[in-house]
Amino acid sequence: MVACGLLLLAACRREPTSDAPSWQGAVVFAPHLPATPYPYSALNFPQSWLDDPALALFSGFGGDIEVTDAGATLGRVLFHDTRLSVDNSVSCGSCHRQSRAFADDVAGSTGVSGIPLARNTPGLFNLQYQRRLFWDMRVVGLENQVLQPIGHPDEMGMDLGALVDKLADTPYYPQLFEDAFGDAEVNLDRIMDALVQFLSCIRTYQSRYDAGLANDFADFTESELLGKDVFFNGSTRCNQCHSGLNFFSTQPTINGLENDYAAAGDGGIGDLTGNAADDGRFKTVSLRNVGLTAPYMHDGRFATLREVVDFYSDNIEPHPHLDERLSEAGMGPSGQAPYLLDLNEAEREGLVAFLHTLTDTAIVADPIFGSPF
Ligand code: HEC
Ligand code: HEC
Repeated sequence: MVACGLLLLAACRREPTSDAPSWQGAVVFAPHLPATPYPYSALNFPQSWLDDPALALFSGFGGDIEVTDAGATLGRVLFHDTRLSVDNSVSCGSCHRQSRAFADDVAGSTGVSGIPLARNTPGLFNLQYQRRLFWDMRVVGLENQVLQPIGHPDEMGMDLGALVDKLADTPYYPQLFEDAFGDAEVNLDRIMDALVQFLSCIRTYQSRYDAGLANDFADFTESELLGKDVFFNGSTRCNQCHSGLNFFSTQPTINGLENDYAAAGDGGIGDLTGNAADDGRFKTVSLRNVGLTAPYMHDGRFATLREVVDFYSDNIEPHPHLDERLSEAGMGPSGQAPYLLDLNEAEREGLVAFLHTLTDTAIVADPIFGSPF
């Protein structure tokens, strides 16, 4: 019996590729890819998004990225490949999990060093509209971002020069680079380009909310309708920051989690500019898929959407530069006393229910974005 069980276990394991040399002793598994590449180049936003004047203004880089099916395929393999890390243990997808809309389910993700990262891992989607990356928006352009985690000692810890040799030495990469770029040369520009192509394909616009836009929210529950009203009514002003079809803003704001963020350990943009008016200024993140991306905020301080709603309702901290939309008047100078919404129980539950309608169940299941390993 025991021997049989062991045999079964061995049979279930994937076979290493036949001509696999080992890199630092690791067994190499080939990715499972479709015979014909997935049609990444045919993907796009729906016309309503492309026609949206606000989104068109925000469109940071989408226009100048040329996506090919083979290029994005290579990007998908790179994104999910633990061989991009120094000890073959961590891929981009280890922290940016497809099932979580490419966010992580812990506040401090860990990479090769095991030291938890200080900031919450954000979801990755609709990146066309984000010219500036990271919670403090410190990097301009995805092309300048994607190699950073590979070299970061607490993320993937891989020397970028060694990475090129390692991938060139990995049996399945030369062909994938040739398919994508015309010859088998592996270099950092190509790694960057393929990752950017893949990431730019992750678009999210299919949620119950989007279906509601098309049918006047006929399928929304009472609670979701109430929550929608609370979100869009003029007193919470949620939609004045988390705005438009992407529920975000390209302008960073201070939403009153602390009255002194720098003293609490992370001043956000203030740490970069040294300007007190930027203390705690962070990216006004998209609320799309927020039902999948717990925990919340730049440091993952809130475990549930209910905690987020309770925060906005009752606990916004006074801050010398609190955004005026979070004050009673909703306008005027920053730094006014925070509003006290004091939402009732039905409104709180409704707001949470409404936020869940922004979940896109397609991108989390679509194999074209999933791990090929
Ligand atoms: C160990 C976990 C970890 C790994 C591995 C990792 N990331 Fe991240 N990623 C993060 C965290 C945390 C942030 C936010 C950091 C910040 O804002 O300072 C982030 C931010 C990003 C952003 C910016 C998103 C935004 O909305 O601003 C992109 C894009 C990104 N990562 C892509 C990648 C790619 C591509 C890889 C692989 C090459 C990768 N990440 C590997 C944890 C990780
Ligand atoms: C003044 C602009 C502003 C207003 C108004 C506002 N938010 Fe936010 N929101 C932000 C910013 C900025 C963050 C990120 C802050 C951080 O992490 O430090 C955020 C974060 C969030 C998050 C967490 C997202 C994540 O992925 O971690 C949720 C959920 C959220 N807001 C919901 C709401 C709701 C609901 C309302 C209305 C009650 C609202 N917001 C009003 C600016 C705003």
